[in-house]
Amino acid sequence: MANILIIYSTTDGHTHDISLRLQQVIGEGDNSVTLLSVKDDPYVDISQFDKIVVGASIRYGKHSREVYEFIKTNKQLLENKPNAFFSVNVVARKPNKNQPHTNPYLIKFLKQISWQPKELAVFAGRLDYPKYSFWDRLMIRLIMWMTNGPTAPDTVVEYTDWEQVESFGRLVDKM
Ligand SMILES: Cc1cc2nc3c(=O)[nH]c(=O)nc-3n(C[C@H](O)[C@H](O)[C@H](O)COP(=O)(O)O)c2cc1C
Repeated sequence: MANILIIYSTTDGHTHDISLRLQQVIGEGDNSVTLLSVKDDPYVDISQFDKIVVGASIRYGKHSREVYEFIKTNKQLLENKPNAFFSVNVVARKPNKNQPHTNPYLIKFLKQISWQPKELAVFAGRLDYPKYSFWDRLMIRLIMWMTNGPTAPDTVVEYTDWEQVESFGRLVDKM
């Protein structure tokens, strides 16, 4: 049995939903899986866990500041344990940008941090235009227009491949 932490950063809840699915899959083995938001628990003592998974969504081209800080603070402990990172973004809906080595955000992120995660994943995210503020809706529609995505203001679309999420969960179970 392993004591596993999934710590995530989300703005609209989708990375939390992905983390929940991972928790279910990893918990099917004889594991104890703790789910925490990096915003709510930035100073969690990760030494008590056997494996760590960090997940974060992209907003305006970046992962959140809290994720960078968490990684900086915990780099040493992270490196001493089995560990993994996953990124959630809508660029990953494109087949040529949905792998860790082809997703521009993940490639850039790995250059910015000193931690080299042992396992990596990129998951396509979700869009829910009616839910966003006027400004966010305008901006994300503009981003989608520039990348040939949907622009209708009532668009709600989930690009996530849940089987991919589940197989990443099984990988974490084995790592
Ligand atoms: C205001 C806003 C800006 C976004 N910026 C980007 C972006 O620059 N690149 C991208 O691929 N996805 C972008 N997204 C899409 C999010 O990554 C996607 O909606 C993801 O599922 C959000 O996960 P979360 O709910 O956990 O925050 C943006 C979404 C919003 C609402």
